Amino acid sequence: MAETHAWWKEAVIYQIYPRSFMDANGDGIGDLAGITQRIPYLSKLGVDVVWLSPVYASPNDDNGYDISDYRAIMKDFGTMEDFDTLLAAAHKAGIKIVMDLVVNHTSDEHAWFIESRKSCTNPYRDYYIWRDGKDGKEPNNWESCFSGPAWQYDEATGQYYLHLFSKKQVDLNWENPRVRDEVYDLMTFWCDKGIDGFRMDVISMISKDQRFPDGPVKPDGYGDFSPYCISGPRVHEFLQEMNQRVLSKYDLLTVGEAAGVTIDEAKKYARSDGKELGMVFQFEHVGSGNGKGSIVEKWTTGKPKLRNVRAILNKWQTELEGCAWNSLYWDNHDQPRCVSMFGNDAPEYRVRSAKMLATCLHMMKGTPYIYQGEELGMTNTHFKGLDDCRDVEEKNAWQQFVVDQKRVSPETMLACFDNMARDNARTPMQWDASKNAGFPNYTEINAASEISDPDSVFHYYQKLIKLRHEHEIIVYGRFVPLLEDDSSIYAYAREQGGQKLLVACNWTKDEAPCTLFEGVNGTELISNYKEHKKGALQPYEARVILLKGSLSEGAVGAAD
Ligand code: GLC
Ligand code: CA
Repeated sequence: MAETHAWWKEAVIYQIYPRSFMDANGDGIGDLAGITQRIPYLSKLGVDVVWLSPVYASPNDDNGYDISDYRAIMKDFGTMEDFDTLLAAAHKAGIKIVMDLVVNHTSDEHAWFIESRKSCTNPYRDYYIWRDGKDGKEPNNWESCFSGPAWQYDEATGQYYLHLFSKKQVDLNWENPRVRDEVYDLMTFWCDKGIDGFRMDVISMISKDQRFPDGPVKPDGYGDFSPYCISGPRVHEFLQEMNQRVLSKYDLLTVGEAAGVTIDEAKKYARSDGKELGMVFQFEHVGSGNGKGSIVEKWTTGKPKLRNVRAILNKWQTELEGCAWNSLYWDNHDQPRCVSMFGNDAPEYRVRSAKMLATCLHMMKGTPYIYQGEELGMTNTHFKGLDDCRDVEEKNAWQQFVVDQKRVSPETMLACFDNMARDNARTPMQWDASKNAGFPNYTEINAASEISDPDSVFHYYQKLIKLRHEHEIIVYGRFVPLLEDDSSIYAYAREQGGQKLLVACNWTKDEAPCTLFEGVNGTELISNYKEHKKGALQPYEARVILLKGSLSEGAVGAAD
């Protein structure tokens, strides 16, 4: 089935976490003016779109994912004028801007919640989810994503409110049509400003089962809310309404963050008839290191295995073919650095494995996302103690598992943080060797030195992006898995209109036998090695060949 074309299917997205990207005024916090200053850098890399993590007014309990005013800019980041300047400068450079939309919850400091908690008869009461306690305890056993109960008791009215994240992130009541109107209005406000899309925060959780039943009990004693909140009863109805009321009126990129989403659900969210969203972020491949050796859920020192990652990604690639669109990512502000997680951040392997991972992902079918610093091969950091942590998730997990429940020793928890903590991705962007003191490897890994080195990770990403822009097969070609049982190599082909692309990546630090390219006549589009070995892939080697004979005139010219 021929794929419908769309600009957002052909684009490469760059995610900026504004707090740690670029500090223009020297107060130690990244800001909008800093992003504007770095537009030439983004143009040099060649990305089409920037997704900004939240820049709205926020008390920063969860770094902007707790919004107190959707129509104002966070003071730390600047003013609305700074935003307008950024938007205009980006557009002038041909770069689109996608905003984070966080509407599963608001900050407890949002005007709606300040009203809501005042009394049971306040007009804003039903903007949120209030319930009576049960036998002097929470209304049910649900655990919040950030540890502890998902319900908070409020003295003023003697009821509990629901918060699937921190207690300062209060869940909105999407059952209330007034809440939905408010959300559509604020979306329209930003669309009318000329933004180019939304990344929708935990959008799969907006509809809750109104019976609020207890969830299955987890190892830590709390209940799992997922059966009742993930892709809940009315989520597709709400998104179709949002689409009719707002999205369909503009030409937008939309991507829904959908932790826990199944393939069948993804086909509904990202359905190709455009009635809901453009694509979703699924989470299976980034959670594939969890399990054995794990303490509780994500807190693990385990690493993902090629076999699992490949099985998951191949499944998403083949099953969405022709009926929904994939998003492609290794990294974002919630994940550890991919070179540390999936690759090898030891000095002798870092550059090769970062390039290998990039190849493996960027030749797949879907829209690729690059998280700031990934294009430099930035690595995880090291946590010496709780004082090194800023993230509310880390602090709460420490309190629960180390302090209250005493299930985990401080040493083990720190080892898990080194592996999994979100702060790994939130250390300052390493621009050059003069700044960012405190994050030890900035002298070796930084943008300035990589820009001047043609063999750097940066230049490799630049080339991958260019290839995607030049070869339609990379965007729209059908994905065909290869060597699905190989213990070292991730290989696949892409096919379109008689053309064929071969991709093979060695995920290990050992040489791996590989006969895939024997006797193949084609043009090498990209590789992280200058010389190849017959019958084998070298440590972390990646190769991409466009087969001869399958080449169209245009593609030959572009590849050489
Ligand atoms: C999403 C965000 C994450 C945030 C959470 C609550 O998962 O990506 O950073 O903590 O939602 O808003
Ligand atoms: Ca600043």
